[in-house]
Amino acid sequence: MVDKALLGVLISGSGTNLQAIIDAIEEKKLPAELRVVISNRADAYGLTRAQKHGIATRVIPHRDFATREEYDAKVVEELRAHRVNLVALAGFNRIVTRVLLSAFPDRVLNIHPALLPSFPGLHAQRQALEYGVKISGATVHFVDEQTDHGPIIVQAAVPVLPGDTEESLAQRILEQEHVIYPLALRLVIEGKVRLDGRRAIVEGGTAELASLVNPSPASAKGAST
Ligand code: GRF
Repeated sequence: MVDKALLGVLISGSGTNLQAIIDAIEEKKLPAELRVVISNRADAYGLTRAQKHGIATRVIPHRDFATREEYDAKVVEELRAHRVNLVALAGFNRIVTRVLLSAFPDRVLNIHPALLPSFPGLHAQRQALEYGVKISGATVHFVDEQTDHGPIIVQAAVPVLPGDTEESLAQRILEQEHVIYPLALRLVIEGKVRLDGRRAIVEGGTAELASLVNPSPASAKGAST
């Protein structure tokens, strides 16, 4: 029996990845209890998603703090108050510091809408389109002190199709994000991810990882023929 993780999720916007995590927990596909959702923005729709499921929410505006470190200290205080032991950044648009990372060593995950190390940072989908790649996707990784750099846990690939816009590609990637974030969290919680330097080795029961390559255009919704 795997001990449940006590999960804290940090958001800044729509919260569709948060919704995927909520759904996976409620469908008993993710052995976790969602203890608190924290947003740096009061207008994040993800707060509404959490509240609809009776999940505690907190707004901690980053503008209230002089430094990123002071902000993170407040976030850590709130996570500790809710007994959190695993942290998921889900559409969270702030850089986190060692204040957060040292409080939860190897227990902070993030999702990025590209196949890292390609296209780190903002507007990853636009970067992929402008570069002209034919395959892009999403990455779940441990967060380290560099941006979009920590050990990669799960990735999923999608085709970039002729006529794609930033929006159509983002939507195709987002569908895979909602698959791999709950999967990656489950693998970590079940103790199936072993860190070896900058590599995260996934062990045992990883058949579902093979299905995360979706190159066939047929798998791509919204493809312009
Ligand atoms: C997603 O593409 C995620 O990869 C990025 O922010 C976007 C919105 O995420 N970090 P969400 O809908 O708020 O979960």
